[in-house]
Amino acid sequence: MATIIKTEHLSKVYLGKIKAVSDLNISIEEGEIYGLLGPNGAGKTTTINMLTTRISPTSGTAIVAGYDINKQSLEVRKSIGVVPQDLTTDEDLTGRENLLMVSQFYDVPRATADERITHLLKLVDMEDAADRYVRGYSGGMRKRLELIVGLVNDPKILFLDEPTLGLDVQTRTQMWNYVRDIQKKLDVTIILTSHYLEEIDALSDRVSIIDHGKVLVTGSPSELKSSLQGDIVTITLKNQKEADTMKTMNGAIEIKDAGPNTVRIKVANSDKSLPDIINFIGKKKLSTIKLTVQKPSLDEVFLEYTGKDIRQEEPGDARKMMMNLRRVRK
Ligand SMILES: Nc1ncnc2c1ncn2[C@@H]1O[C@H](COP(=O)(O)OP(=O)(O)O)[C@@H](O)[C@H]1O
Ligand SMILES: [Mg+2]
Repeated sequence: MATIIKTEHLSKVYLGKIKAVSDLNISIEEGEIYGLLGPNGAGKTTTINMLTTRISPTSGTAIVAGYDINKQSLEVRKSIGVVPQDLTTDEDLTGRENLLMVSQFYDVPRATADERITHLLKLVDMEDAADRYVRGYSGGMRKRLELIVGLVNDPKILFLDEPTLGLDVQTRTQMWNYVRDIQKKLDVTIILTSHYLEEIDALSDRVSIIDHGKVLVTGSPSELKSSLQGDIVTITLKNQKEADTMKTMNGAIEIKDAGPNTVRIKVANSDKSLPDIINFIGKKKLSTIKLTVQKPSLDEVFLEYTGKDIRQEEPGDARKMMMNLRRVRK
């Protein structure tokens, strides 16, 4: 396999002080779906914007499809397609008109454009909606259109910045199928950013977990998961005092707080350790509200490398936390 993107000490500092991306060194192989996984503010969009030549690096560079982003931005732009985080299609045009407009921008000859657009619309099941105004599209349809807008210039590389942000779970899984299909049928390399673990797990051949502009670890999702030895037992108890008692148990690899009245116990093998845990609970007369056992998932990988739970970043959870706080105060 050939390397299609290589970043060399790629860095971006905003306003002389905000280190959005620091010394990024990654290689992406042709034909891969490569994920950049990180919480809000990790530097994902800044990385994409540099690789797509929308902003210039403060230092370092990257070779994209054989071209240097600092010196050959025009060539880079011709080789890539970009689907930015924010919606870009025009609501007052039809889907097809949007696609044609972008193809004109890239100087694609009209006959080629017509043919390509028909093919792309078919790939994402949008033939029927193609001649309707985008204004009337559902969120999922709009995202599907955005996805193929990034493909009208027949790029070697497609950049997708948070391609399913704001979609409901069902629509999101549909998008995954389209992304996979596009990679296979059009033989493009895809760079995808997301703060949804499931999305990265479902789609990426390899992933870099980034936080505060730095790569913490790179590997295939399954490599990362199996590198974490041990199972996780999560226990919610009646109150924080009981949770603190639980933390005094012996024989675990690690015991950490994991939310209100909740502890996260890492053990080598949950089948062997569960009886000990249950014994301890009985001996100390603790009341278990909830107990779950988990083999390592990408959640654990994320927690291991960033020291935080990516789901704490979800607005839904923030709201829940506020509600819990309010309840406690009353
Ligand atoms: N134009 C900008 N000016 C100043 N700071 C910025 C700008 N764009 C992003 N940042 C900051 O850089 C960091 C990385 O942002 P971003 O790349 O958007 O992260 P992500 O896409 O992972 O959420 C954040 O701290 C963000 O506030
Ligand atoms: Mg972003």
